[in-house]
Amino acid sequence: MSSPTDRIIEPFRIKVVEPINMTTPDEREAYLKDAGFNLFRVPSEGVLIDLLTDSGTGAMSAEQWAGIMRGDESYAGSPSYHRFEAAVRDIFGFQHVIPTHQGRAAERILVATLVKAGDTIPNNTHFDTTRGNIEAAGATALDLPCPESKAFDVPHPFKGNIDLDALRKKLSEKNGSVPFAMMTITNNGGGGQPVSMANIRAASEICREAEIPFYIDACRFAENAFFIRSREEGYADTALLDIARETFSYADGCTMSAKKDGMANIGGFLCTNDSAVARQEEELLVLTEGFPTYGGLAGRDLEAIAIGLYEALDLRYQEYRHSSTSYLGEQISEVGVPIIQPPGGHAIYIDAKAMLPHLPVEEYPGQALVVELYRTGGIRGVEIGSVMFGGRDPKTGENFYSDYELVRLAIPRRTYTKSQIDYVVDCIKDVHRRRSELRGVRIIEQPERLRHFTALFEML
Ligand code: F0G
Repeated sequence: MSSPTDRIIEPFRIKVVEPINMTTPDEREAYLKDAGFNLFRVPSEGVLIDLLTDSGTGAMSAEQWAGIMRGDESYAGSPSYHRFEAAVRDIFGFQHVIPTHQGRAAERILVATLVKAGDTIPNNTHFDTTRGNIEAAGATALDLPCPESKAFDVPHPFKGNIDLDALRKKLSEKNGSVPFAMMTITNNGGGGQPVSMANIRAASEICREAEIPFYIDACRFAENAFFIRSREEGYADTALLDIARETFSYADGCTMSAKKDGMANIGGFLCTNDSAVARQEEELLVLTEGFPTYGGLAGRDLEAIAIGLYEALDLRYQEYRHSSTSYLGEQISEVGVPIIQPPGGHAIYIDAKAMLPHLPVEEYPGQALVVELYRTGGIRGVEIGSVMFGGRDPKTGENFYSDYELVRLAIPRRTYTKSQIDYVVDCIKDVHRRRSELRGVRIIEQPERLRHFTALFEML
């Protein structure tokens, strides 16, 4: 019998519950004051629905917890490593698999091995830690997003694509060396938007012609595979595992944070097909992460990742994942909340500049919105705008600002139910109705670097 409904429901039932602290408005006001209106400083007991990140915050499955108990903690040659390596090789297809404690450790080792001062690394959009590692090496992190990504409110199926002409042009210039090019799937810095297989294939060909390696930042590879299956011609009947295998067949290596589509709370890895590069990377790994068969992880973590990578490729899971993220996006955009269209895979990005036109960038509209969402419903999002990317020029003392003011609401995997997302929708609608009354914020104390984590604010 076919199903009486095409409603997509959570494809799991809940086995372990964690209580949420149902804070009152007065308690939230006190938390905000104590935190200097910086949500990174609010203790998580003060948060009702935590949409700060989808990284390491998801729920593991019963199978993963069983794997945790099976974890073998031998220093060298643990069977847990071999299960992890077999899973990564099976899905990603690379010869060398180097475990790391999370994504940025893989980035750091890759950069230390291949990048020197003065180099340039193109990417569709670098994530902040990738950019940070490249810039710390004295090199340039060059973002080449496709032109469609710039119009937030105009939908396009693959807004995460790299600008192929710009990539070709960069690689044909002979000023400064390009040790490798990257592609981030999905494009987190660009709204969680997907990259098409055609774009990956073409970028790979351009790199091959220029004889440079092509790397993929694979954090949300399974979400990207689902987008390809649902939006790109020729993939409607292809298994997500096969789409993932094809994706990585075009690359020479990858970096991965297993805290995303590894469905684990910690972990990552670095892959390459180049044996000489792998040897150098393993030497660096031993210095700061650990022996090559654990790389800063416990055997139990390796087991959880080996299982989680396949669970992320389960079609029923991805259908639920994408429908719950787009449900949030659709519900709020229906009442006029401006978001990056269409909704991304892991998050909704509200355009705070468009929603709060009465607040100039000097009053940080993104931060003002983040504060009001917390005050209203205990919802924690993150500002991706001038607090994060602006700053003060150390030479002139002048403030500079970002081109955009966004608020990201990232959905942890398998964690919140539809009624909890409905609660988020209600709170956002309420804030939207009162948007003209929202006040801006002023920074009263800030560090030199990465100020969004610790800066203190006051309400204007
Ligand atoms: N690359 C991308 C595209 C990411 O989104 C992240 C992390 C990393 C690399 C670094 O991985 O955290 O394991 O070291 N993104 C998280 C976020 C922190 O909230 O978007 P990590």
